[in-house]
Amino acid sequence: MDRPIPDVIRPLWLLPLARHGGVRRISLSGPGPWRVGRSASNDVQVDHPSVSREHAVIEWGESACGPSWRVTDQGSASGTCVNDVPLPAGNPMPIRPGDRVRFGPVAFEAASRETSDESTDVTRCGPSPAVHAVDASGIEARHLDAVLAAGSAIHAALDDASIARAAVEAVVRASGFQDVAFVRADLQGGQVDVLAHASADGCAPRVSRAMLLRARDAAITYESGAGIDPTNTMVLHRMARVICVPVLLGDRSFGHLWMSDSRARGAEVGPVAAVARAVASTAALALANLDRLRTTERLEAEHRAMFDGTMQALIASIDAKDPYTRGHSARVSEFAFLVASRAGLPAADCERARLCGLVHDIGKIGVSEDVLRKAGRLTEEEFRHIATHPVVGHEILRGIPQMWDVLPGVLHHHERYDGRGYPHGLSGDRIPLVGRVVAVADAIDAMTTSRTYRGARPMSEAVAEVVRCAGTHFDPALAAAVGAMDRRDLQAIVGLHVFGPGLPGRDGFVGATPLPEAARPVTGIDHSGPMRRTA
Ligand SMILES: [Fe+2]
Repeated sequence: MDRPIPDVIRPLWLLPLARHGGVRRISLSGPGPWRVGRSASNDVQVDHPSVSREHAVIEWGESACGPSWRVTDQGSASGTCVNDVPLPAGNPMPIRPGDRVRFGPVAFEAASRETSDESTDVTRCGPSPAVHAVDASGIEARHLDAVLAAGSAIHAALDDASIARAAVEAVVRASGFQDVAFVRADLQGGQVDVLAHASADGCAPRVSRAMLLRARDAAITYESGAGIDPTNTMVLHRMARVICVPVLLGDRSFGHLWMSDSRARGAEVGPVAAVARAVASTAALALANLDRLRTTERLEAEHRAMFDGTMQALIASIDAKDPYTRGHSARVSEFAFLVASRAGLPAADCERARLCGLVHDIGKIGVSEDVLRKAGRLTEEEFRHIATHPVVGHEILRGIPQMWDVLPGVLHHHERYDGRGYPHGLSGDRIPLVGRVVAVADAIDAMTTSRTYRGARPMSEAVAEVVRCAGTHFDPALAAAVGAMDRRDLQAIVGLHVFGPGLPGRDGFVGATPLPEAARPVTGIDHSGPMRRTA
């Protein structure tokens, strides 16, 4: 194009706002007219299937505001927009730096100077919503404060309604429009929900569903006597100016920002629409984040419920195998928590002891029922068989990340402080703390429940036995803590036989109930006291 370039012409660059195949920046260095379209015969080729062969013309010329660049739609099928305002075919619209010019789906930002790195231009509005969610094109400096304040208020909001309110307040401050609302509409004909609104009479503004439909993908503005035809609602309610901005993140809609005013004069529609677009972008990002948070919380709750249910099923299966020890796991769990807390262990260790107590015998799933239920004395072979349950339990639980903290306790709850326990014969502090705690709790429960060969021993005797075995069977510090305990606290746990929906460390033993004395379990295996193998 060998056209003269008058000195007064200010060169213009149109920078692509998204990657559309081979579309690159457009450099307009002469007055034009520059023909824009899909066809290669144009001065500027925009090679996109939704762009018409001869789509628009851009040229330098006089306008009401003095000389400027102007774009004119040539009757294209997908339309030409400036700042999301559709242009009637044949009517030129000025373009200024900062404006967003769209030929069908292909959008550009007008710039007064060329950027140095072309790749930066092409990717500046790429796919990352965190970077590109806020559409700031067309915002004037006088509105920046309002937009920034809106961003702070919106991101501080904790629910959808608060976000909508913050968005409405920001737009009211920046626009001065009479009626502003954040609406969610079922565009297939359902109702329009108003999440937040501001109006002179306090009533929710009238909203044109037809305008919402038109503004499904991009902002629509209306001023009486110019641009688009008004809808019936707009005519009926004498709306002189309307701005309707979709609240979008990608292709996901969260509603619309609606602004209407019966006064023909007031704030310019273009700059107000730019502010509303920026506010809508911020609101969309915040709403999407809230949604993501809600989904995450729901999934976590589902996973927790699934985990709790799985653990309860596992523990119930132990009870089913050995009904004489029904409730043993629940009681050991409570005893373990009590012993740990009275010994002054940190809260996390107490919770770990509680969970470990619940699952410590889970390895009995792998022990023969004949051995578990045997009333008489165990043979050496039977004892070796049952003594595998800590290792089996460890193997069962090691694949569950939530159980990793308690694995040492499961594996070592039959170790003795003097090193004569099993499976590894660890002694003293080499025995993991949670294992030492559960060993005490396990012994207290075993002694205070009935056996076929004897009745339940009183709690005072069980406590005395724990104290007597300090340093041989049990950790001396833990034994001392048990010795100093109020017996009634321990006694309150005796008889618990079921556990409720909550697992230890979360809701506690909600629903645990005492078992009637007559129904107290008996067992053929006694793990209590100084390692006895009894009938
Ligand atoms: Fe055990």
